[in-house]
Amino acid sequence: MPLSFQPSPNIARLKESATLAVAAKARALKAQGVPVIDLGAGEPDFDTPAFIRQAAARAIEAGATRYTNTEGILPLREAIAADANRIQVQQQPVTPAEVVVSNGSKQSLYNAVVCCFGPGDDVLIPIPSWTSYFEMVELARAAAVPVLGDPANSLKVTAAMLEAAATPRTKGVMLNSPNNPTGAVYSRDELAAILELARDRGWWVVADEIYRRIAYEGDAVSALDIAPTRDNLIIVNGVAKAYAMTGWRIGWTIAPAPLSKAMSAFQGHTTSNAAAVSQHAALAALAEREQADAAVHEMVRAFRQRRDAVLRALGAFPGVRYVHPAGAFYLYLHVDGFRGAADPGAAFAAAVLEEQQVAIVPGSAFGTPNWIRASYATTEAVAVEGVTRIATCLTT
Ligand SMILES: Cc1ncc(COP(=O)(O)O)c(C=O)c1O
Repeated sequence: MPLSFQPSPNIARLKESATLAVAAKARALKAQGVPVIDLGAGEPDFDTPAFIRQAAARAIEAGATRYTNTEGILPLREAIAADANRIQVQQQPVTPAEVVVSNGSKQSLYNAVVCCFGPGDDVLIPIPSWTSYFEMVELARAAAVPVLGDPANSLKVTAAMLEAAATPRTKGVMLNSPNNPTGAVYSRDELAAILELARDRGWWVVADEIYRRIAYEGDAVSALDIAPTRDNLIIVNGVAKAYAMTGWRIGWTIAPAPLSKAMSAFQGHTTSNAAAVSQHAALAALAEREQADAAVHEMVRAFRQRRDAVLRALGAFPGVRYVHPAGAFYLYLHVDGFRGAADPGAAFAAAVLEEQQVAIVPGSAFGTPNWIRASYATTEAVAVEGVTRIATCLTT
C-alpha cells in the first residue's frame, strides 16, 4: 500500500506562514497581469548597499566557499560583539563566545525557543506579534500564551499585564520592539519594567530587535542597554531589515555562553553554519561602520518620508484608526466590524485585494483578527496610493 502522509505530532498544529502566503498570492496575481499594489511584504525594497555586495564578491574570490564554524566566523562574531558594545555600556562587554550566527534571525529565534522552552512550559507572547513566534513555541511543544496589548497604548503590553497572564509554568517572554506588525516602539521605562519582572521571576527574555535601527522618534532602546542582568537575556538581531539584506540570511543571538553553546550544538545538527559568503557580507555591514551607518541612515530617512506621507494621506479619512507607527515599516489599521464578518481582518484582506487590488496581511496572522497590516516598504507613491485605497475600502 502506498504510504500516505500523516503529519507527525511535531507539526500537527503547524500553519502556513500567513505573511508568506499573502506574498505568494500577490505574486500570482501580478503574474496574471493584475496590477496589484503589494503592501504585504515585510522586506525593504532597497538593494543591499554596494559596499556590502562588493565585499561579498571579494570574499567569494578569496575562497569563502566552504563550511565555517557552526557558530559563525570569529571576525563576524567579534564585529557583532563590538556592535553590541556600542549600545550597552553598563555591563561586562559582550564577547564572541556569547554570539551564535545563523541563517537569519528567524533561525536564531527558533534556536533560542527550542533550547529554552519545552513541554510543560508556558511562553508569554504579547499580541499582536509576529506570526512565527506562536509556531516556534508550538514546535518546541511548549504552550504559547498570548497577552493582548493595550489599544490605548499602541497595543503594547505592560509588566503588570504580563504578570497577570503568568502561571507557575511561565518560562519566558517574547519581546519585539520596534514591533512587527504595529510599528510601536517600547519606551525605556516600559521595557525596563518588563525586564525587571522577568529577572525577578526567572523568565527567559527573547528580545527580537531586528527592527531596532528603523525608528523615527529617537533611538529604539535595546534590552541589552537596560537589562538588570544578561543571565536571562537573549538578544536576537540580524542584517535583513536594517541593511536591506533579507536574501543573504544572516541573523544572530547574543546570549549567555552556556546557552550559546547549546544553540550552536542544536544548529550543528540541523543546518550547520550560515552561508560563508553571507557571513562575509554581514561582516562588511557591521565592521565598515561609516559606510554602513550612512546607508542605514539613508534608508531610514526614506522610510520616515514614506511613513509621513501615508499618515498625511490617512488624514483625509478621520474615521480610520491605526497604531501610531514609530518604527519598522508597518501600519496597523483597525478594521473591527468590517461588513459584519466573523474575521474582519481576513474579510477586509479579501475585499481590498478583489476590489482595490491591494495586498495586505490580515491581523489574525498576528493574533488580532480586528486589524490588518500594511507595509510601506515600497515607493512613496505606491504606499500612498495603496493606503488611500485601503482607507477608501474601509470607509465606503
Ligand atoms: C519581528 C521579526 N523577527 C524576525 C524576522 C525574520 O527576519 P530574518 O530575515 O532575519 O530571518 C522578521 C521578518 O519578517 C520579523 O518581522
